[in-house]
Amino acid sequence: MAGDDAPPPVRGGWREIYRDLIASGRDLRAHRTPDDWLESALELADPPEGRRAVDLGCGLGSDLLRLTEAGWCAEGLDGETAAAEFVTSRYGIPVTVADLHDALPWPDAHFGLVTSRLALHVLDPDAAARTFAQIARVLEPGGVLAFAVNAASHRELGLQYDYRGAVEVAPDTWYLPGLDRRYLFYTPDRARRMLEDAFEVVTCEEREIEHFGIRKRVVTCVARRRPDTTVGAA
Ligand SMILES: C[S@@+](CC[C@H](N)C(=O)[O-])C[C@H]1O[C@@H](n2cnc3c(N)ncnc32)[C@H](O)[C@@H]1O
Repeated sequence: MAGDDAPPPVRGGWREIYRDLIASGRDLRAHRTPDDWLESALELADPPEGRRAVDLGCGLGSDLLRLTEAGWCAEGLDGETAAAEFVTSRYGIPVTVADLHDALPWPDAHFGLVTSRLALHVLDPDAAARTFAQIARVLEPGGVLAFAVNAASHRELGLQYDYRGAVEVAPDTWYLPGLDRRYLFYTPDRARRMLEDAFEVVTCEEREIEHFGIRKRVVTCVARRRPDTTVGAA
């Protein structure tokens, strides 16, 4: 995508990471362990037949493959065009190139299920609040949201990233100059507070996972959009 209408590039070098991952030819589905939070969301959601699901920050699409396999009519959103092109050309699954900071580009109550693995933590608290309101808007009443985000303990234990020169730029939100990325590191309590207006939280917990062989501490949440709340466009 190019030109004035193209979304700004997502910072953080995802294009290079994806180029190397695609070239490595590894099975992208093998990197997600454990996955019980996603599986429990699939069980919790109403039957998928004829209904839509979206994965936000879908990357190379391994969760989209799982959603499709489970019977959902799945699509993705990612800021990285190389990832979107890969998913669409390899798997035939549509991916919208967009920035998670912007309003979600779908009508109200469009999806029965929204998932997101390790992407929503790129949003600082104000942006995250807007995006969770947007997620509630595009979900059907009673629709299910399942996501994983970096935990506060991930940073406190010094896992994965180069934290040299890290600066706290908003509450629990750290700019990592070595990566040129900023992350909101969640506690389960923060995640619950983010969700409380529009969702009933089913599970929200901190745990350890492996992602592409990298040890991570994450907060995983599964929640249902309250049927009784009115959620307007942001
Ligand atoms: C850690 S990867 C996770 C990808 C995939 N969910 C997975 O589990 O393999 C984070 C993804 O979020 C996307 N991303 C980062 N910031 C974004 C933004 N502001 N808007 C849209 N996508 C973004 C990146 O391009 C990347 O694909």
